[in-house]
Amino acid sequence: MYFNNSITQYGLVAKLFHWISFIILVIQIPLGFYLVRLDFSDTRITLEEYHVIFGIIIFYLTIIRLFYKLLSKSPKFLNSSFIGQNLIAKLNHFALYVAILTITSSGILKKLYNGETLNFFLFKFKYKMNFDLADKFYDLHIISNYALIVLISLHIFAVLFHKIFLKENILKRMT
Ligand code: HEM
Ligand code: HEM
Repeated sequence: MYFNNSITQYGLVAKLFHWISFIILVIQIPLGFYLVRLDFSDTRITLEEYHVIFGIIIFYLTIIRLFYKLLSKSPKFLNSSFIGQNLIAKLNHFALYVAILTITSSGILKKLYNGETLNFFLFKFKYKMNFDLADKFYDLHIISNYALIVLISLHIFAVLFHKIFLKENILKRMT
């Protein structure tokens, strides 16, 4: 297996970014929905702390991943089976990145406008309080989470569509 991407295959670095992000998101999305349904308690506070830590990890991971993507070549798409297929795939990937960055930055801004001090691992940061903006960013946090769920579903549907109808195993490019 190659370390970096080739024309036909994702390399080890891109695969690690993809599957580590996947594992964190599979925990983080249900954790978010679960914790907001809990009554106020120590458990809820602890779970929210974990939620914020995982959230900031995925925020950094996505930014580093995008830098890596910009600096390295991406594998070429397979030959299209219908017009616009590659464009749809590109749009799906682009929208997945946008959704993850919107969720993480809106979560961060919600906490900061609540007047809380956030630990970004390398430094701590506190900003001025503004509850109106905190509420708006929290609405964005929820909407972008639903958008991410739709985009992930389409993404997985595309992999299955390739396998079942086009008889192409694109999963092997990412495993
Ligand atoms: C990709 C990463 C993230 C995902 C998938 C995610 C997902 C979620 C979800 C699904 C909810 C529940 C929304 C609801 O139904 O009300 C939630 C709540 C929340 N999220 Fe995130 N989140 C992420 C990152 C972050 C980050 C980076 C922060 C802050 C630094 C954050 C702060 C919060 C807060 C404060 C709540 C409300 C918790 C409460 O009411 O106690 N999230 N998140
Ligand atoms: C949290 C869920 C997931 C997210 C956020 C996600 C995100 C992404 C992104 C952003 C890319 C584009 C990589 C790039 O070139 O920059 C990608 C590619 C890919 N993903 Fe996922 N993914 C998820 C889950 C999955 C799952 C469950 C599968 C398998 C069923 C999968 C299979 C693939 C494959 C095969 C590719 C390469 C597509 C190609 O050949 O161009 N992904 N994914």
